[in-house]
Amino acid sequence: MAISPIIGSAVTRVDGKLKVTGGAQYAVDHPIEGVAYGAPVASTIGSGRIANIDLSVAEAMPGVLGILYHGNCGPVYRTAGPFERNSIVSEGRPPFEDNKVYYYGQYVALVVADTFERALDAAAHVKVDYETAKPVTRMSEVTTPLGPAHRSYSRGDAETAFKNAPVKTDEVYTTPTETHNPMEMHATIAVWKGNHVTLYETTQGVVNMQGVVSQMLGVPLDNVHIVSPFVGSGFGGKLFPWPNTILAAMAARKLGRPVKVTVPRSLMFTTVGHRPITEQHIRLGATQDGKLQAVIHEVKNPTSLLSDYMENATGSTPVMYSCPNVKTAQWVVRLNIGSPMAMRGPGACPGMYGLDSALDDLAIKLNMDPLEIRLKNYAERDESSGKPFSSKHLRECYTKGAERIGWSKRTPGVGSMRDGNEIVGLGVGTAIWGAYRGGAHARVRLSADGRARVSSATQDIGTGTYTVMALIVADKTGLPVERIDSVLGDSSLPPGPMSGGSTATATIVPAVAAASVKVIGQMLDLASRTNGSPYKGVDAQTLAMTNGRVHKQGEAPESGIPFEKLLEMQQIAALEAEAQTGGAPDADNYSMHCFGAHFVEVGWDPGIARLRVRKTVTVMDAGRIISEKSARNQILGAVVMGIGMGMFEDTYYDPRNAKPLNNNFADYIVATNADIPEQEVIFLDYPDPVIGEYGARGIGEIGLVGVAPALTMAVYHATGVRVRNLPVRIEQLMKA
Ligand code: MOS
Repeated sequence: MAISPIIGSAVTRVDGKLKVTGGAQYAVDHPIEGVAYGAPVASTIGSGRIANIDLSVAEAMPGVLGILYHGNCGPVYRTAGPFERNSIVSEGRPPFEDNKVYYYGQYVALVVADTFERALDAAAHVKVDYETAKPVTRMSEVTTPLGPAHRSYSRGDAETAFKNAPVKTDEVYTTPTETHNPMEMHATIAVWKGNHVTLYETTQGVVNMQGVVSQMLGVPLDNVHIVSPFVGSGFGGKLFPWPNTILAAMAARKLGRPVKVTVPRSLMFTTVGHRPITEQHIRLGATQDGKLQAVIHEVKNPTSLLSDYMENATGSTPVMYSCPNVKTAQWVVRLNIGSPMAMRGPGACPGMYGLDSALDDLAIKLNMDPLEIRLKNYAERDESSGKPFSSKHLRECYTKGAERIGWSKRTPGVGSMRDGNEIVGLGVGTAIWGAYRGGAHARVRLSADGRARVSSATQDIGTGTYTVMALIVADKTGLPVERIDSVLGDSSLPPGPMSGGSTATATIVPAVAAASVKVIGQMLDLASRTNGSPYKGVDAQTLAMTNGRVHKQGEAPESGIPFEKLLEMQQIAALEAEAQTGGAPDADNYSMHCFGAHFVEVGWDPGIARLRVRKTVTVMDAGRIISEKSARNQILGAVVMGIGMGMFEDTYYDPRNAKPLNNNFADYIVATNADIPEQEVIFLDYPDPVIGEYGARGIGEIGLVGVAPALTMAVYHATGVRVRNLPVRIEQLMKA
């Protein structure tokens, strides 16, 4: 069946009106009668143990209902881990497991009161005495030898090839700690009825969270209900549950009334993940004409004492560019900071900053154009696996983007391009992100009121999943999106995908399509056996549904009958079908990735020491686009984050107590309106023939990959300063 033009069209997101009118209910918006408020008490030391907790003052304060801590919180369990599905947790240790403190900001108590203000006030009066140890906050303080790599890859003989290469670069690139800062902070309302618990949540995975809560609280899976209809974004921070969710559930169970817990913005910097620092030692060897002979990429990142998180910054390196000799290695080092977690484009985002920066250093050394060196080392197939790419049009991304930014007018000399008081610089960066499709269930219902309903236990973190699901049903049934209800964000629905790894669209689309086809088939059957149906006795195989009408194949849809009429004739409220789909059948034979190119133009005004991004152009090769507006929105937002990564974001910890010093929006700078220039986004829109019928790959993360190296190269082009430690700081440029 041909795919209709509604796919890829610029429909307005179906949940948009609810969002802009305040009708969308985020976690704490759910009106729950008798709800009490939990305020966390967080550790003020980075390492040590709780010697004593004095609750006497706080307990006596007005409105206080109870205070939980390790001494009285009741049973809480660890998850079974990889042996058991749906039990992925961000931090292995359950809250309040014992009196040990592993990082600043770790929860040490939870005060519950009848109002939010009273809870906060009482929390400030819980007196905690600590036995304090010196926290380790920097990788440089860890002197134990690294030992063998925790992850490695090798092809050819990279060390020898590097030694013999006529042209070499050998530099260290670093990326800072970046903190996920979704608008909606992590929050939970926990409501118990007997041994059943409902959690109003904000999560990137309702199904996984249901499993985790079941395991950590020791109640059967079907006694746990996760409700998360709207998520004020997550960026990876909401992939897997954090202790705050469990605290709310524990407190509500102990006190016998609903409890609401919100993570304050300051604790968003300590207890719910961050992108860890990467230190990347990259050595490149090349021929005189810029062909790579050796790539050696070695990365260290810190993790906490409670997580094994590795920032897989070398993950893309064996795939990205053509080179016979490649070696990568990764190590993790444990520090007294909260646990890191995947943040938009994890691994690839810092990793491609390193690799593309190294390639630019090579280009600088060779006096070569940055775009030319990328084309020179273009990988025609995945040299790490020998497999062909399922679909790769990166060359077209480069050429289209170059045209739009005016790359041909780029004069190579540092500071050679001017516009009034500004020195203009241009840079290019490559985007890559693995494409993956997993398994999902979806249900589609066609009702006598003429509407369709599509449901799955997935969630929309702002990426457009509501709209994508509706569009697939619209494509299959021909109904306008106004007559289609998307239902998600509820663990009681048929199990759907996580919103993670840019996999939700590729995963849910086939399930929705299959369920749609199934229910349409049932409807055609109904038409062939319903009294009064114009198709009574007609072979259902010769019928079709178009524009919501059942008709004979090859005849105009208007000649047919609306499906709701058939339901009415039979006095049936609705037909419904559920489908389960798995991974892409031929995925093992291909290397599947999204690709893209970012072009960044900066302006440096040396008179007033002002650096601004003037323009960005992004060309994406992301398979077929399903929902054009929300897809564009993803890439625009990711490029904004890329500007933040290049110029502002950096969480820094006080070495005395491991406190993040800029744990607020005044001091932790993210790119905002004044930092954002004209942005152009182009989708190539080549369907991926391997990933599925629609050819749609995920695009939530790739837009951030490759922005920062394009930006730092543009800065070099304008100023002559090569920044290898993000973010770019004005002080560095003033030395120019
Ligand atoms: Mo993404 S970092 O898997 O939310």
